[in-house]
Amino acid sequence: MPNSKIAGIGFYVPETVVTNHDLTRHMDTSDEWIQERSGIVERRYAKPFHETSTTLGAKAAERAIERAGISKEDIDFIIFATISPDYFFPGCGVLMQRELGITKTEIGALDIRNQCSGFIYGLSIADQFVKSGMYKNVLLVGAEVHSMGLDFTTRGRNVSVLFGDGAGAVIIQPTEEEGKGILTTKLHSDGTHAEKLAFINPGCHSGYHFNQMGEDIDFGYDKDIEYGGRFLTQKMLDEGMIYPNMDGKLVFKTAVTKFPEVIMEALDDQGLTTENIDLFIPHQANLRISQFVQRRLKLRDDQVWNNIQRYGNTTAATIPIALSEAVEAGKVKDGDLICIAAFGSGFTWGSALIRW
Ligand code: ACO
Repeated sequence: MPNSKIAGIGFYVPETVVTNHDLTRHMDTSDEWIQERSGIVERRYAKPFHETSTTLGAKAAERAIERAGISKEDIDFIIFATISPDYFFPGCGVLMQRELGITKTEIGALDIRNQCSGFIYGLSIADQFVKSGMYKNVLLVGAEVHSMGLDFTTRGRNVSVLFGDGAGAVIIQPTEEEGKGILTTKLHSDGTHAEKLAFINPGCHSGYHFNQMGEDIDFGYDKDIEYGGRFLTQKMLDEGMIYPNMDGKLVFKTAVTKFPEVIMEALDDQGLTTENIDLFIPHQANLRISQFVQRRLKLRDDQVWNNIQRYGNTTAATIPIALSEAVEAGKVKDGDLICIAAFGSGFTWGSALIRW
């Protein structure tokens, strides 16, 4: 069975740069607070009416397709990972197919969420499809436009300052080169703390999960309604119940445990150690998390690539953006061992080892 490899990679971020200072015009925050807690200096925001997760994804995809030396019509499967889709349905996969002008219908389009670990989950899916011989050119995209769904008042500052918009894409192809390509992917999940980092309303949950947990929380639903009418209510809009929420301390604590675990799992599986890693690209959740993991794994600075300072957390897009940047900067050489890892909402987490 051949391995699969990354045959082409590209990224795209919107032109609009929003600094920490810019955010202080909307909410009570400071450049100092944001940099100290997260490392972020600025992020990009999409232009309303012109840019969406689909369009950013399509631009990144065009670069990946060109670098893989194929044409759009060669794509036989699309995987689109995002938690900020253009529509509730259909997903961004088909929208991007249309945006790219791919008219052939002998193609599948799969939308996945999996939040911060969306790219690694997508990579694992693409890897299995290619290894099995089912597809030869899988286009995997991670793209987010968070700026459309954040609370820019002081109430939402603990979450809003962390996120940015952007997209990254790869083409996954089979390779006959011995020992090259995607060596392993490891995926994990634990739904225990699903609501601790979540975007709950609007939604179809009608309070069920909190009711099960014995928590009587007002979500803005009218509980007396017999059926229907609960996806989005006026109360949710009026009282700002339509934004992401996060237990930052729990996320931090769990992330710094799970990152090293899942990286060591992948290395052990391949009989490798942290010294063998040429470049580690952690999901860009928070610079403090990445630095903690780096110290725990005793990695040198030249073994790690971080860019959250410039883009914030772009969820499913952080890893392909960072990997693409590292490739463009000449940091990735033939035969290098690349390690990628992510942790996020769900909780879901994962890692992958790639021999370039
Ligand atoms: N600006 C200024 N003050 C703020 C801001 C802000 N943007 N946000 C919160 N504060 C205030 C709070 O109101 C609080 O004030 P108080 O003490 O008067 O009540 C104080 O700062 C401390 O707030 P905490 O939420 O306790 O701050 P904490 O030290 O936990 O840092 C942070 C918050 C940076 C989010 C941290 O918990 C963290 O890094 N968690 C990891 C979560 C993460 O990285 N998420 C990314 C998305 S998930 C993922 O990709 C894995």
